[in-house]
Amino acid sequence: MQQAASRNIGPIVLLGSPGAGKGTQAKRIAVRYGIPQISTGDLLRDNVQRSTELGALAKDVMARGELVSDNLVCDMVRDRLRQPDCVRGFILDGFPRTPAQAGWLDAFLDREFFENSRAGDNPPIVILIDVDYNQLLSRLTGRRTCPTCGRIYNVHLQPPRVAETCDLDGSRLVTREDDSDAVIRERLTAYEQQTRPVAEYYRRTGRLVWVDGSMPVDQVTEHVFQEIERHGVITADGG
Ligand code: AP5
Repeated sequence: MQQAASRNIGPIVLLGSPGAGKGTQAKRIAVRYGIPQISTGDLLRDNVQRSTELGALAKDVMARGELVSDNLVCDMVRDRLRQPDCVRGFILDGFPRTPAQAGWLDAFLDREFFENSRAGDNPPIVILIDVDYNQLLSRLTGRRTCPTCGRIYNVHLQPPRVAETCDLDGSRLVTREDDSDAVIRERLTAYEQQTRPVAEYYRRTGRLVWVDGSMPVDQVTEHVFQEIERHGVITADGG
C-alpha cells in the first residue's frame, strides 16, 4: 500500500480562530504526509526573536494581538513557498488571514507555484477547524510550548507528564507572550472581523471543509485526515 508520506498532496490551508488547534493538527498532518507546516505566527515570532527588520516591524503589532500588514506577511510566505520542500505540498497554518491574503495566495499558486509543483494544479483543501468561544479561552490561557521541538501542550487539557517539562526532550515549557487575557481578546476580535470573511471567500468557491474542533485532539485528527483523503487530489510521488 502507498505510504501517505510518499504521495503528493498539494496545498492545505488550515483556518480557525486563535486556539482552535491549527498548530496541533498541522504538526500531525506534516508527519503523516511528509509535507512542511508553514505557520506564519511561528515565522513572525522567529523574526522577532532574531531581531530582523521584519521582526522589528511585527513585534509591537503582535504584542497588541493585531494583524501584521498583508504586504509583509505575503512577502514572507512567498519566500517560504519557494523553498524546494514545498514541491509535493504544504500546510498553511495561520495564513491567509484576510481576504487580501486569500486573493494573493490564489494568484501566487496560479502564477508560480503550480508551474513547479509535483502535485498538479489543484486548488488548496481549506479546512476550517471550528471551536466554541468559551473553550478557546481555556485553551489559550493553558497553552505551553516546547521551545526546542515546538510540541504544544495544555496545562488543563493536554498536560505534559512532568509539570512544565517537554515529554520529548525535557526542555522547560514556555508561555507565549500573546497568551495573556487582554491580548487573547484582541486576537479573537481580529479573527471575527478580519479572518471570518476568509472562510466565506472559500465557502463561495466550494472549497471549504468544516471540522468540529471541540472534540478530543485524536478525534479531530481522524476527521482532518478523512477530509484530506476525501477532498484532496493525492498522487503517487514518482520523483
Ligand atoms: P498565530 O501564531 O497564528 O496564532 P493564532 O492564529 O492566534 O493561533 P494559535 O497559535 O493561538 O492557535 P492554534 O489554532 O494554532 O491552536 P493550538 O494548536 O496552539 O499568530 C500570532 C500572531 O501573529 C497574530 O496575532 C498576528 O499578530 C500575527 N500573524 C500570524 N499570521 C498572520 C497573518 N497571516 N497575517 C497577519 N498577521 C499574522 O492549540 C491551542 C491550545 O489548545 C493548546 O494548548 C493545545 O494543546 C490545545 N488544544 C488543541 N486542540 C485541542 C483539542 N482538540 N482539545 C483540547 N485541547 C486542544
